[in-house]
Amino acid sequence: NQNTMILAIETSCDETAAAVVENGTVIRSNAVATQIDIHRRFGGVVPEVASRHHVDQITVVCEEAMNKSGLEWKDLDAIAVTQGPGLIGALLVGVNGAKALAYAHDLPLVPVHHITGHIYANRFVHELKFPLIALVVSGGHTELVYMKEHGSYEVIGTTRDDAAGEAFDKVARTLGLPYPGGPEIDHLAKEGAPVIDFPRAWLEEGSLDFSFSGLKSAVINYIHNEKQRGHELNPADIAASFQQSVSDVLVKKTMIAAERVHAKQILVAGGVSANSKIRSEIEKAASTRGIPLIIPPLSLCTDNAAMIAASGTIGFLKGMRADLSLNGKANLSI
Ligand code: KG4
Ligand code: ZN
Repeated sequence: NQNTMILAIETSCDETAAAVVENGTVIRSNAVATQIDIHRRFGGVVPEVASRHHVDQITVVCEEAMNKSGLEWKDLDAIAVTQGPGLIGALLVGVNGAKALAYAHDLPLVPVHHITGHIYANRFVHELKFPLIALVVSGGHTELVYMKEHGSYEVIGTTRDDAAGEAFDKVARTLGLPYPGGPEIDHLAKEGAPVIDFPRAWLEEGSLDFSFSGLKSAVINYIHNEKQRGHELNPADIAASFQQSVSDVLVKKTMIAAERVHAKQILVAGGVSANSKIRSEIEKAASTRGIPLIIPPLSLCTDNAAMIAASGTIGFLKGMRADLSLNGKANLSI
């Protein structure tokens, strides 16, 4: 059997997911049990609640992924699992599930960094070409990653405070929108215009780092001040203006990074890459510069296990292995 078949498990936040991927490029199955409806009641992810639901769902999604893959356990080459970063209690459920399966079926265990999974979601769309720049924007991360080959990652820009998705979620909450706020803002912004001049944090000349807490505070203060003055708020304009600010900074810095390393590709990844404004602006900017751009389809932008399997396949082929002492890590670096 020439093909590499990997079962991957992902439980770093609020999706319990398992998937089987062939050669890091073909999705045989991709099962996701989302907890979004459960956490919506609390306005955000409650870690302890997340862990319990992972425990409930982990066996179900693993069985579903195996059944739908058409494979048997003996056809697998390895089990890959998200080791971190993420919620520790949530990670532990996936890591322990993966260890149990690896032990029971005598399969190698491959640890995967969640962010590299988001990056490798792009490989289901197009073969990666190096050097490349990946913009990873999610609820917990805002990172520019330089890759000169498969499995090699250098973080060249990161957020100094809030992640982009976190800013979306907090601004949405102030506007009274449900969790998760990103898709809500995206939707609402379509009915408004970016007429309010919110700040853009460019930081020092040449810096590829990000900062979104100033923008978040500016939007929240604007809302409070307008209310205090008795003005009628226009939530659609606020959403559109906030989104424009985020998009301008993300797109500009990604282009600077890509030009700096002479990137052959730009990849966008993570939940925030589902944003329609950011998608269209980054597409425009990349095409103006003649740099090919890949963004995964919506279903692969948010947390899933197929992306963990894709990155895990590269790790597996490079000989990365974990033993049964593997532990989840809330703050794992790439
Ligand atoms: O990658 P992801 O599913 O989980 C993390 O690893 O964090 O990302 C979730 C984040 C949330 O903050 C959510 O609000 C944001 O992605 N998001 C969006 C959109 N869809 C999801 N943000 C902006 N626009 C969207 N359309
Ligand atoms: Zn994620």
